[in-house]
Amino acid sequence: MGDLLSLKQSFLEEVSAVSEAAELQQLKAKYTGRKGLVTAELKALSAVPPAERPSFGKAVNELKDFVERTIEEKESSFKDVEKGRRLLAEKIDITLPGKPDIPGRFHPLNRVLEEIKDIFVSMGFGIEEGPEIELDYYNFEALNIPRHHPARDMQDTFYVSDDVVLRTHTSPVQVRVMERKQPPLKIIAPGKVYRCDADVSHTPMFHQVEGLMVDEGVSFSDLKGVLELFIHSFFGKGTPVRFRPSYFPFTEPSAEVDIGCIFCAGKGCRVCKTTGWLEVMGCGMVNPKVFEMSGYASDAYTGFAFGMGVERLAMLKYSIDDIRLFYENDLRFLRQF
Ligand code: DAH
Repeated sequence: MGDLLSLKQSFLEEVSAVSEAAELQQLKAKYTGRKGLVTAELKALSAVPPAERPSFGKAVNELKDFVERTIEEKESSFKDVEKGRRLLAEKIDITLPGKPDIPGRFHPLNRVLEEIKDIFVSMGFGIEEGPEIELDYYNFEALNIPRHHPARDMQDTFYVSDDVVLRTHTSPVQVRVMERKQPPLKIIAPGKVYRCDADVSHTPMFHQVEGLMVDEGVSFSDLKGVLELFIHSFFGKGTPVRFRPSYFPFTEPSAEVDIGCIFCAGKGCRVCKTTGWLEVMGCGMVNPKVFEMSGYASDAYTGFAFGMGVERLAMLKYSIDDIRLFYENDLRFLRQF
């Protein structure tokens, strides 16, 4: 019995000195494991005289229970401490401001392009595309701009070779479509174009939307009607529109379309150079020579065409005074749209 008491005593001393879970496991093995001190006492039970056996057995079992219970309690208190430490480390400061989710959005040019397309699609126009690296033939010759013709000076061209250019306008798509399809035709062709030019209102790459309508009996009034409707949808119903005579080799007659200056309401300002008008696009009746080169019978059909700059329309609509802003990827600019 005295052995048991001193065993309990030494267990208590040892267990109180334990400071981590691994030591506790060692202690458990030392006392109640297969070769443990308490286990040894249990094994020695048979050697105890029969008269003392019941009380000794009871005492050993109590000691065994006591050791096991104490270790369990200590184990769970270790777990509590560990859990507390973990929770403290994971503590979240819910008073901190959150990280806002900034959703993506369309680039202003894409928005304007979509708007232009929507307006023409609602009038029954289809959408066509053509290559950006274009044959001289489609970019110039088939549009009635022969080699060495002074009209070539209107556009500063990037030449890839003698016969290949970066298209300077979307007008070549007109010819490509007419080669493939027969009238009636009602299409727009949006896309990138290239010119060797750079300042506050010019970038070497910019966007145009071309338009073409061909059928029997298409007249200049149809052209005026379509473009007026477009301008009123895009810039607002009351916007004044005028057609000013001009020249393009691929149209005859040709015109430039002006809108009443939206900055000074037509009074005259720096932007409209005191004229009260802003030029927004070129247009005209398709030159019969263009029909012939595209394989159309020029006595059977008439048509109109137009071409506009997307950057220019976006700059006017949103009062942007420098075209380069579209391409600098400055988020302070882009987030305004
Ligand atoms: N291609 C001309 C340019 O880039 C714009 C243009 C004018 C297109 C008159 C047309 C048109 O279709 O009829 O300056």
